[in-house]
Amino acid sequence: MSYFDSVSLAPADPILSLTEAFKADANPDKINLSVGVFVDDNGVTPVLDTVKEAETRLLTNSKTKSYLPITGSPEYARLTQNLCFGSELAKQLRDQTVSLQTPGGTGALRVAADFIAKNLDTKTVWLSNPTWANHGGIFGSAGLQTESYTYFDNASLSLDYAAFIDAISKIPAGDVVVLHGCCHNPTGADLEPEQWEEVAKIAASKGWIPLVDFAYQGFGIDIDTDAAAARIIAKSGLPVFVCQSFSKNLGLYQDRVGALHVVTGDSAATEKVASQLKVSVRTNYSNPPAHGGGIVTTILSDETLTAKWHQEVAAMRGRIAGVRQQFVDALKAAGVSRDFSFLIKQKGMFSFTGLTKEQAMELREKHAIYIVNSGRINVAGITSANLERLVASLKSIIG
Ligand SMILES: Cc1ncc(COP(=O)(O)O)c(C=O)c1O
Repeated sequence: MSYFDSVSLAPADPILSLTEAFKADANPDKINLSVGVFVDDNGVTPVLDTVKEAETRLLTNSKTKSYLPITGSPEYARLTQNLCFGSELAKQLRDQTVSLQTPGGTGALRVAADFIAKNLDTKTVWLSNPTWANHGGIFGSAGLQTESYTYFDNASLSLDYAAFIDAISKIPAGDVVVLHGCCHNPTGADLEPEQWEEVAKIAASKGWIPLVDFAYQGFGIDIDTDAAAARIIAKSGLPVFVCQSFSKNLGLYQDRVGALHVVTGDSAATEKVASQLKVSVRTNYSNPPAHGGGIVTTILSDETLTAKWHQEVAAMRGRIAGVRQQFVDALKAAGVSRDFSFLIKQKGMFSFTGLTKEQAMELREKHAIYIVNSGRINVAGITSANLERLVASLKSIIG
């Protein structure tokens, strides 16, 4: 008899367990396209030069390790609002925006989920089908129910815009709808700015509340264009939650840096919303970690460092776009029977390849190539060293 007899074994995280299996694989030519981190052509997830410079400055100038406020640093809040909404709109919205420095994008999502569960009239959050594997767990853990709206057409491997519009037009007033700001994870299929305008109109007419999950700013087209969803929705006067992450675009994965911006659309409600968000933070992790936020603040408050960071983001984005093109060209040159040109149009690190679960398993078992069973690949995992073997293996499976 153990005090823990009542505890059952939780299912392993499907993506992280693939990483474990990859690590244990003895094949020297193994390829990992399942993880969610950027890697360079040497297969390394780099520390950005601007981050190193900011850390050097922080080390020299830091005077205290005392707690940050519950909401984090006010300067961080202002700078990340500017990055998210653009300085002009951020200024206009300042008195109706509550911003929190959070432990990563996940922390922002979890605080938003707690706030929604405890304070709004709805208990339902809508997620795209498919969506990031952690969304259901985060909202579910806060006691919310999740439903899904149609997003992707598995036949054409692209956004099913008509079905998406139809689905979000039927969502009841007051419910919360999670939208991927850019670089949709897992499909890589994004909306155009005009389409976001239509989404904002539908949200306004139906009365549901948008939540923009914004984890890949700068990985799609550029830092400003990628912010279209957050900016168009906020500008339209609607309330909106934006969950921002700096894990990918600053490579700060392990420092856990993000922000939650809640634009209330109503200055009178802002103080009450801020007070309840603080309760959620206080009872979860009390106040945010300072180091990663300090890096972001150091970079965004210095014009030269910001310009350098924009170049670093452009280089990461350029590598991903280049790899997409090389991969498609190499598949074509190898005479692979299926047309993969849709991969070029998709944005960000992830793509749905259309490969079946059986094909994903065959890739893993026969070729030591790790992709998610849904057929999702992390395009950034393709390098000059593994492209040829990857294409040959796919050819042997698909024909
Ligand atoms: C869609 C999406 N949202 C949020 C996150 C969370 O990022 P973070 O590592 O900052 O918690 C991720 C990370 O993979 C993501 O893909």
